[in-house]
Amino acid sequence: MSSIENEGRDGFSSRFGIICAAAGSAIGLGNIWRFPYIVGESGGGAFLLIYLGFILLLGIPVMLSEFVIGRRAQRNALGSFKRLAPGKPWYLVGVMGIVAAFMILAFYSTIAGWTLEYIVKSLTNSFSGKSPDQIALMFDNFHTQALWPLVWQLVFMFMTAWIIVSGVKKGIEKYAKVLMPFLVILLIIMAVRSLTLPGAGEGLAFLFRPDFSAIDSNVLLAALGQAFFSLSIGMGTLITYGSYIRKDNKLGNIAVEVSVADTLIALLAGVAIFPAVFAFQVDPAGGPGLIFNVLPGIFQQMPGGYFFGVIFFILLAIAALTSSISILEVIVAYLTEELSMTRRKATVMATSAAAFVGMFCTLSFGALEGFTISGLHVFDLLDFTASNLLLPLGGLMIVLFVGWYMKGVDVKDEITNGGVVRARFTGALRFILRFVAPVAIAVVLFDSLGII
Ligand code: TRP
Repeated sequence: MSSIENEGRDGFSSRFGIICAAAGSAIGLGNIWRFPYIVGESGGGAFLLIYLGFILLLGIPVMLSEFVIGRRAQRNALGSFKRLAPGKPWYLVGVMGIVAAFMILAFYSTIAGWTLEYIVKSLTNSFSGKSPDQIALMFDNFHTQALWPLVWQLVFMFMTAWIIVSGVKKGIEKYAKVLMPFLVILLIIMAVRSLTLPGAGEGLAFLFRPDFSAIDSNVLLAALGQAFFSLSIGMGTLITYGSYIRKDNKLGNIAVEVSVADTLIALLAGVAIFPAVFAFQVDPAGGPGLIFNVLPGIFQQMPGGYFFGVIFFILLAIAALTSSISILEVIVAYLTEELSMTRRKATVMATSAAAFVGMFCTLSFGALEGFTISGLHVFDLLDFTASNLLLPLGGLMIVLFVGWYMKGVDVKDEITNGGVVRARFTGALRFILRFVAPVAIAVVLFDSLGII
């Protein structure tokens, strides 16, 4: 099939814009909230090594594959498969992606809502003079109640929807561009403070000294799920964004740069958090509340901590927003392009549906805590299903699609921008896409499910 022209679709105006938007999608709560708590639950250093291996071997190839599919097809996550494989069941990968997008948006907005509460708590100086135990108690009191977590979740959903209605360029690009560098600077300052707390060494050892006896098939799956979640891959976010990338931008470079930035920020968050976890004697395996129990304590111990705390939680909420818009965009692009809805109507419908499911996630830390399915409450169930099952399965199908279904010349054409870019790695990449990545993902996924 010959290359499809842009057809006047909305798109990113510059290379810098697409990098910011893709990095904005990748960098979010996944790096700063989810990464530390999953590392903590998975025993530290050995998990980290495996995670890094998965990013390199699986993450970057899947990301590049998504870009290839999206830019070639010039369509949303589902429409892209229909267009590149007409009459074939490949579009089901897109269906799965849209289901995953709803699930992720639902539980993501719970945590994003918590960050909004923490902006207010910081602003009102609520942590001042509190011990680590008292800070943990504050978090407990807050996140188990019904009213405020729900209010903040809906506020966050509304902000996400509002940005999406205003369109791709004006909405996404503008917000992503300016703010992320500030988050990095703040994380570096926090890491320095955390590293100089008494007892910090233990945290560093936990993070960087691998204990391979901690590894089992569940830990491997957790690393795979975290790698995919953090890079925003496996459900078509980057197919959708890929369709907005200009034909003269180099997909390989973008995939590498975004993945490296995402990974560095997760590492930075780890270095900021784990020394403090051990200094304050918080349980590293304590679950989704980890950063909310630990970070206010770090700010307590900093000159200007009030100021840094406020700014940090604001930036974290914005990082969450540039990620949540990329999730919502998957659904909205599908509804507008395939079902001819207006952008406004599509956004309202998708947001309402996700918010409805999301409320159950939020309440599962309190009122609905006892409501479990195979031992997991709603929040954990959606997170596990989407991150550890649907994303790897989606990633598996995506590499199979690009490695086996698409013609080699077409893939190469897309990666080299029609032969303009020299890409010496295409041979190795093709080998990874056809053999290494599918086998690795399948083994980790099916092994932990007990299928093999
Ligand atoms: N990667 C984002 C984060 O780290 C979350 C996210 C955005 C995402 N789009 C996604 C996760 C698509 C999975 C799939 O916070």
